[in-house]
Amino acid sequence: MSGEFDGLVALVTGGASGIGAAVATTLVARGARVAVLDLDPAAAPEGTLGVRADVTDDASVRAAVDEVVRTLGRLDVVVNNAGIGAQGTVADNPDDEWRRVLDVNVLGAVRVSRAALPHLRRSPSAAIVNTGSIAATVGLPQRALYSASKGAVLALTRAMAADHLADGIRVNCVNPGTADTPWIGRLLAKADDPAAERAALEARQPHGRLVRAQEVADAVAYLASPASGSTTGTTIAVDGGMNDLRTRPRA
Ligand code: NAI
Repeated sequence: MSGEFDGLVALVTGGASGIGAAVATTLVARGARVAVLDLDPAAAPEGTLGVRADVTDDASVRAAVDEVVRTLGRLDVVVNNAGIGAQGTVADNPDDEWRRVLDVNVLGAVRVSRAALPHLRRSPSAAIVNTGSIAATVGLPQRALYSASKGAVLALTRAMAADHLADGIRVNCVNPGTADTPWIGRLLAKADDPAAERAALEARQPHGRLVRAQEVADAVAYLASPASGSTTGTTIAVDGGMNDLRTRPRA
């Protein structure tokens, strides 16, 4: 598959860690030149252009997108992946936390897409891929705010796909199950019994293990690829069957 993205430039938000880093590395391996927009660009994977950007700050996003296009000459693929979590029921999270999480997870994708649109319209093979979550499509306990944010990402994906079809820009989404990234490492570190918590998360996935960041990255690469020119407004679940299967408990 090497060379699939030859000549194309991709931008990955949150590409300095976890799923985003796997996406950035995968797109580089398949021939793209890749910019990583992150709060921590020094951690961007080797072979990528790290650019500091805070997706909650419109001026920062616009400056970063300008820098990418100035440095790499064009922009064809945007992966809106930067995200933060939240735990609790509607009784638990204060308004400021709601604003903060929606600002990163939903408006972050809006700001980056908005700044990228003029460049994507000039691309012969434009694609936006949003990182959603299993939380968008099933009810998980203690995830009211996070689920609302990812439900919005899913709805936004479809609406943008409709709006920008005529611009030649495809817009799709991946919904990972619980994935083995530094994010989950931080979550486990806070648990009373991290090993038991990890076992519970693994058991929640029908295939009995956490999703690998690389498995999500391969789905993102599929959706971003020029080879997927007829795929838009859709979602790929990368969740070991968590969304769609009703299996018997594992022995
Ligand atoms: P991570 O915490 O390992 O990486 C997130 C990256 O986003 C970090 O490099 C961080 O610096 C960056 N970031 C955070 N806020 C930012 C901001 N305001 N501006 C720019 N960059 C910012 O997380 P992970 O696990 O790789 O998650 C990536 C995406 O995948 C998120 O959207 C998350 O909601 C989603 N996801 C993760 C799952 C998991 O179990 N790890 C499951 C389903 C979805």
